[in-house]
Amino acid sequence: MKPLSTFFGLNPKKALKKIITQQQCPEHGSYQAEEIWLGDELKSRDMCPVCAREQAKREEAELEEKRQVEKRDRLEKRKAFARIPLEYREKGFDDFRITNESQAKALNLAKRFVRGWEKAKEGGYGLLFVGNCGTGKTHLACAILQSLMESSEDFRPFYYRTSEIFSAVRKTYVPSPHQSEEDVIRHFCAMDLLVLDEVGVQKGSEAERRTLFAILDARMGNKKPTILLTNLKRKELEVIIGERLYDRIRSKCVPFLIQGESMRPTATADLFD
Ligand SMILES: Nc1ncnc2c1ncn2[C@@H]1O[C@H](COP(=O)(O)OP(=O)(O)OP(=O)(O)O)[C@@H](O)[C@H]1O
Ligand SMILES: [Mg+2]
Ligand SMILES: [Zn+2]
Repeated sequence: MKPLSTFFGLNPKKALKKIITQQQCPEHGSYQAEEIWLGDELKSRDMCPVCAREQAKREEAELEEKRQVEKRDRLEKRKAFARIPLEYREKGFDDFRITNESQAKALNLAKRFVRGWEKAKEGGYGLLFVGNCGTGKTHLACAILQSLMESSEDFRPFYYRTSEIFSAVRKTYVPSPHQSEEDVIRHFCAMDLLVLDEVGVQKGSEAERRTLFAILDARMGNKKPTILLTNLKRKELEVIIGERLYDRIRSKCVPFLIQGESMRPTATADLFD
């Protein structure tokens, strides 16, 4: 009768063996290695422990690099989802130059908002940046969004120009089973943080003013922070958006006038070189 081991496909001559041997690493010298033999076939041998540690370190570094790349990709996707304009996606607080006292204070306020985000969220407090063209209102508002997005993976703010909100609402005037005007307004009311740019650029129709009121009144009532950006002076803004809305904004958004010349760089021919 055949031995049982042969019956199971094992060769009795091929016994599994574990031995300790002395090995030589060309780099780190001699070390003890465990070897596993199956009959006269070497199945495995420990590598030099120093080499093993170095390899593990290299693998961990590669993995970390991959994680960082994935994190950056995710952040880029989230910035696009937040509708941050391309021009501002690489701009942060560090890129905001200080050439006058007003810019220094504006930057300080923007950073303070980020630091105090939990408080802002709790009370629904936002900002109102006022200033002439090119004074850095959009730059600072986008820097705030990006800074908050970097520190929290599930934070989903949005950037909209006021006119884009109006066109989103206008689209719903064509009856659609998918989205009603209320749905669109609800969407704007639900965002954790909304940057609303170019407030008051156009005087706006009566319907547009109603939309803006509905959104901002609901946001402020529900303690949802909003950052408003405008070229208009206080009085002009009040006239354009109406006294009632202005009064609500005044109670929830800390105003700041950024003074100075436009920081928008002038396009020159060497851009094409
Ligand atoms: N203090 C600053 N340091 C560096 N760059 C700045 C500064 N202020 C503005 N910029 C740059 O100038 C350009 C215009 O700034 P931004 O778009 O923020 O101005 P704005 O106040 O929003 O103007 P507008 O009212 O015309 O929309 C951007 O490219 C921005 O990065
Ligand atoms: Mg702007
Ligand atoms: Zn080694």
